[in-house]
Amino acid sequence: MEFNTKILCIGAGYVGGPTMTVIADKCPDVKVTVVDINQARIDAWNSDNLPIFEPGLDEVVKRARGRNLFFSTDIPNAVREADIIFVSVNTPTKTFGRGAGKASDLQYWEKTAREILEVATNDKIIVEKSTLPVRTAAAMERILNSNDKGLHFEVLSNPEFLAEGTAIKDLFEPDRVLIGSHQTKSGFAALQKVVDIYAHWVPKDRILTTNLWSSELTKLTANAFLAQRISSINSISALCEKTGADVDEVAFVMGKDHRIGSKFLKASIGFGGSCFKKDILNLVYLCGYYGLPEVAAYWESVVKINEWQTHRVISSMLEHMFNTIAGKKIAVFGFAFKANTGDTRESPANLVVRDLLAEHAHPVVTDPKAIHDAKRDLADVLSQVEFEEDPYKAAEGAHAVVVCTEWKCFAELDWKRIYKGMAKPAFVYDGRNILDAAALREIGFDVANVGKGKAE
Ligand code: NAI
Repeated sequence: MEFNTKILCIGAGYVGGPTMTVIADKCPDVKVTVVDINQARIDAWNSDNLPIFEPGLDEVVKRARGRNLFFSTDIPNAVREADIIFVSVNTPTKTFGRGAGKASDLQYWEKTAREILEVATNDKIIVEKSTLPVRTAAAMERILNSNDKGLHFEVLSNPEFLAEGTAIKDLFEPDRVLIGSHQTKSGFAALQKVVDIYAHWVPKDRILTTNLWSSELTKLTANAFLAQRISSINSISALCEKTGADVDEVAFVMGKDHRIGSKFLKASIGFGGSCFKKDILNLVYLCGYYGLPEVAAYWESVVKINEWQTHRVISSMLEHMFNTIAGKKIAVFGFAFKANTGDTRESPANLVVRDLLAEHAHPVVTDPKAIHDAKRDLADVLSQVEFEEDPYKAAEGAHAVVVCTEWKCFAELDWKRIYKGMAKPAFVYDGRNILDAAALREIGFDVANVGKGKAE
């Protein structure tokens, strides 16, 4: 079949895979190829066992794969034939050299630019899909347009706002699609081509266009604001515990004020995921780089409160468990950074397990989708941690259960059965406030949760 446009996405991860799948599904006239250097990941995309768990993803992949959606490791060929190249490679926090611990590690990014340059034989539109420091497009252009082949590369920014766990819904019905371009004739022409792709299914008034730098910075800022709301409500949860207030009540009523809104006001043991921490630290680094230390300190506090909030789990456990958990079996319910994903990157559960080990406790991790990745993340302490698919078995003989992920299936368990099997007194720390605390107390559990002070 002849296709009107050929799109390539470099990077078949949590963003590249689902995003391109939905573009292919909605644009049958467009050929979409997704490439990666990771052969195992591409093999999984071409199998019935996709490399990531995302509700609804399997169905859409099956609809488009082989029709106009292709997964491959043949990067040079795919680059040569593409009109538009989305780059969706990982941009983790730098772990070495200047900016270590804060700045973005752009080595994968730059490598991609050089690979494109090496094999390209015609002009192309390059779209930044990864989250990047503001002004990365300028560097990208310098690398790409410093060629002696007479080729022109127009760089656009099209950051992705999907959330893991709801990626397919977010992509089908986005609040907005953002595309940034140079405010030049060639910039506008390239912009229109990408707008035309999204216009296949996204209403025109939701496709927002800005200059390149606004687009790059908006993504970092959006993540920083979302994370800031979580740290704000989590900081209040600690005050609730001291004063007898209930953080869920406080958040519910606050959220009724339309200027505040109800989303992202759920207190918990802290946010996780590959993006929030890394993107805020990147923002902090940029503020420092541009000589704004006060702004940097303001945003860094969002990350600090988040870590403090996770460490509070152990403080509460010690308080409830006679100041010692040494030698005690503790069931950790959930290792994914949130429900409906198998992604464990920067999961607060990881910190909880390490805090448990520091207290010489014996953690047993259970999760419906994330045991595989949990083992990878805990590789350095693997001999000290147990893994158990069945939550009932994980809790058998345990002194405490700590709920770290808000999986619905945990709320639906037979807690009477769990209680029976546990050592007494049996303690539950509900780090996501998903369990019915009154019902658990009725059964006999000692219960602590986030931001719920004693009301009397
Ligand atoms: P990921 O780590 O799941 O996927 C990145 C993929 O790029 C990997 O499979 C890796 O093998 C591949 N890759 C790296 N260098 C390559 C190269 N030179 N050629 C071909 N493939 C290469 O990362 P994820 O989560 O998809 O994130 C990608 C970007 O999107 C990051 O910048 C992230 O901040 C951003 N983002 C992530 C969101 C999320 O929820 N995960 C949401 C919105 C943005």
